[in-house]
Amino acid sequence: MSTDQMKTDSSVDNWHFIDRDATFRLHNPHLTNHLFFPLVNEAGMMSIVTPTLNGDIKTGQHTFFSTPVSVDDLHNSRSARNFWVFIEGHGPWSLTGNSAQQIAQRFKDGTESTELEAGLLWHAMRREHHHLNLKAEIVNFVPSGEDQVEMMRVTITNTGDQTRELVPTAAIPVFGRSADNLRDHRHVTSLLHRTFCDRYGVLVRPTLSFDERGHIPNTRTYAVLGCDDQKRPPEGFFPVLEDFIGEGGNLDWPQMIVLNRSPEAEAGDMMEGYEAIGGLRFSRVRLQPGESCTWVLVLAIFDKLQNAAEIQARYLSTDRFNEWFNRTRDHWKNRLTDLEVQTGDSHFNNWMRWVSVQPVLRRLYGNSFMPYHDYGRGGRGWRDLWQDHLALLLTRPEEVKDILLGNYAGVRFDGSNATIIGSNPGEFKADRNDIPRVWMDHGAWPLLTTCLYINQTGDLDFLLREQTYFKDHHVARSKEVDSDWKPEQGTALKTADGQIYRGTVFEHLLVQHLTMCYNVGEHNLMRLENADWNDGLDMAGEHGESAAMTALYAGNLLSLAKLARHLHARGHGRIKLAEELIPLLIPQTEEVPAAKQAYLERYFEGCYRTLSGKQSTLSTKEVAERLEAIAGVIINRLHNQEWIRSKTGHEWFNGYYDDDGQHVEGDHPLGLRMTLTGQTFHLLGRTATPDQVEHILRAVQRFLHDPAVGGIRLNTNFREVKQNLGRAFGFAFGHKENGAMFSHMAVMYAYGLYQYGKAREAFRVLDEIFRHSLKFPVSRMYPGIPEYFNARGRGMYPYLTGSASWYMLTLVTQAFGVRGLLGDLLLAPQLVREQFDDQDRATIRTLFAGRHLQVSFFNPQKLDPGEYMIHSVQLDHQTVLFSRKDEGVLLPKTALEKLQPGVEHSVEILLGAKQNLTHYEEIDDR
Ligand code: G1P
Repeated sequence: MSTDQMKTDSSVDNWHFIDRDATFRLHNPHLTNHLFFPLVNEAGMMSIVTPTLNGDIKTGQHTFFSTPVSVDDLHNSRSARNFWVFIEGHGPWSLTGNSAQQIAQRFKDGTESTELEAGLLWHAMRREHHHLNLKAEIVNFVPSGEDQVEMMRVTITNTGDQTRELVPTAAIPVFGRSADNLRDHRHVTSLLHRTFCDRYGVLVRPTLSFDERGHIPNTRTYAVLGCDDQKRPPEGFFPVLEDFIGEGGNLDWPQMIVLNRSPEAEAGDMMEGYEAIGGLRFSRVRLQPGESCTWVLVLAIFDKLQNAAEIQARYLSTDRFNEWFNRTRDHWKNRLTDLEVQTGDSHFNNWMRWVSVQPVLRRLYGNSFMPYHDYGRGGRGWRDLWQDHLALLLTRPEEVKDILLGNYAGVRFDGSNATIIGSNPGEFKADRNDIPRVWMDHGAWPLLTTCLYINQTGDLDFLLREQTYFKDHHVARSKEVDSDWKPEQGTALKTADGQIYRGTVFEHLLVQHLTMCYNVGEHNLMRLENADWNDGLDMAGEHGESAAMTALYAGNLLSLAKLARHLHARGHGRIKLAEELIPLLIPQTEEVPAAKQAYLERYFEGCYRTLSGKQSTLSTKEVAERLEAIAGVIINRLHNQEWIRSKTGHEWFNGYYDDDGQHVEGDHPLGLRMTLTGQTFHLLGRTATPDQVEHILRAVQRFLHDPAVGGIRLNTNFREVKQNLGRAFGFAFGHKENGAMFSHMAVMYAYGLYQYGKAREAFRVLDEIFRHSLKFPVSRMYPGIPEYFNARGRGMYPYLTGSASWYMLTLVTQAFGVRGLLGDLLLAPQLVREQFDDQDRATIRTLFAGRHLQVSFFNPQKLDPGEYMIHSVQLDHQTVLFSRKDEGVLLPKTALEKLQPGVEHSVEILLGAKQNLTHYEEIDDR
């Protein structure tokens, strides 16, 4: 029997917000492990900091300032940003709590207490020693500027009534090389170090960047610079780690500090070889009662040794620190004011600020470089790339437009795509490890993002913009290798006569969807290939099928059809398509899978190395009709074949077939099996009937809902390492992709529910995630949404999760119902009663059509969705005319464009009881 269960520690305090800018405080955060906080800038500095000032600093896989850390190293590694004082008459004290003595005292009450105060994006730790009567504050942030720099200000205050004499030393280990060198010649690479003592600090500049495939000269310098509040440089240095800790010592009990030794190195000295440390000894201070002293430290990565002087001039003083601190806080504040909510719950409003910063963090860190994300080497995955843009599209679609177009160059003509995208537009790779792997869901995401872009802007012509296709040695959805292809040929698909082929965005979308319609398994559903949305379903490559994703693709086909009809209505009667693609665009009858696969093989042959370059012109109306017919067949099949019923009488959709071709969900000797994924994509794709949605709700509530872990689990316990489905089932149940409350899927489920008007049920899903995150004694995480809550209810993999984008998208476009419809502004709220404040108001500040809008909904009758409708709309206090769209109203883009840009405009909407409407049009904004 498993003894794993939710862990709540009632002696632990919650964090709490202290203002409306999402600043929060947490008492004694050092008594929780796994906590970390991101500090980052657009220049590429990526830091992580913990309550004990642990966490690594880096700018990429090969440029780690400090030793790379995984989550358990955060509390087990001694390699923190430390600052020591040797107190005359007492001994050493670490201002970060990292001395052997302090660690030994940690569980004994009363000696020391700490408090974290953190905001967007800065981190302040305060520590008080109640016997020594000393208080320390350390503030860290990464300045929003051009440099790869982290700043740190250390202040110590004498709170007692006796004068204190202190000898201060900063001790910040410098790793200074590639993360690969952790397990690839760690010692040998330390021999490459050249460590210079400069006037203001220690500079580490390795001679070579170690790589046995070809060593290259190193171009980076890693520096720890420091001064005191009178701008005085250090008095001396400890540049070599082994000398600083001394024989028998370690970073928690370093000989140089404990024995209060004087440094032997001075400015101008240089050491060759050896692990390095930025050991900076500052002048001794005498603190009178009530007095404080401050030091500023700059941790930087830059090019030449000589740049140290510029960095020092730009950052190294208390004044500079304050300037950059204010500038950085303003920067993040301004970045997030594009989208802010004010509901009846001020915690929620502030929490949402942290959720809104998450998509930005994922853009800056990629899917690597945080303690849980100790994999990957930078760059972003295909699925995440598209989804992370959802959040940005809500407010600044124009900025994303070219990026989206650029991303389409990653699509292969076989419908698969490059999976890793570098930091620069157009940088694609097959896979980070060059494994020929195909995620079968990848083709579905670009359309969702593109539809959002088109709806927010009305830029339907985007579909007609042209883009190249990706070509490398992987062909036929990575089942074959084109051995004639050489990287020198470039990664753009060419025609037989050597020209680079370009097709419209619409054609790219067709390629992604139509290939999947033929890429079917024994049950005539789309093959699972090497995984779908669930990366953990990676062991059913032969016979696995994903009914779940088949539903999304089918829904997408209907969206594509709609887009084709819109193109037609806007005068684009005909569209050019690659000739090779046309045979796939035929309404599928009930063809057997083998026939479809053979068809697909022929298609692959046609685009194996090159394309013919010939294009045919089709009527957009006809394209729409064909797509609708194709979708119809698939949806019917899903309804007839995949709708299952358990012995308990519950009904829902089977989501998968395993590698033995067996359906996965339903009654099973080891216990009933159900997945949330299998249901969510029917809701997202709108392929379920309203009646089916009612059944799904009941089954989900019965088998997957678990309030102890913040809501709805990803699946039931299969009680089997299901090697014919994927590694996920090797994970312990309740963790990650095996049955955790996985935020991304749960939020998409909520989104789908809103699409069916199930507002209260959708709200509950979103609300439970929020409330569970809020319960620090169990979730043990800072504000924000985690990737998942584990079996003990702990929030895991915070910050870098696609669920943040989806949470924002769902809240804004579905709950508030503020979204574009082919460029016009649709207001279709589905807010529940409790989301309004005590003045019956719920407000969202957003940017639409380039205008800053404060959209407020008034609900004086305290009605719920389904009970209310919009009675009036005022734009800058003037009543405006609108056309009604089902439960919502439409404000034309032209009306908004008349508003002055750069200032905020109010949109005030009065909700009242539903009345019989004389006419309404149904919303279908897929
Ligand atoms: C992560 C990945 C996402 C994937 C999911 C399930 O989710 O980033 O692409 O679909 O795992 O395997 P996230 O961290 O975005 O919540």
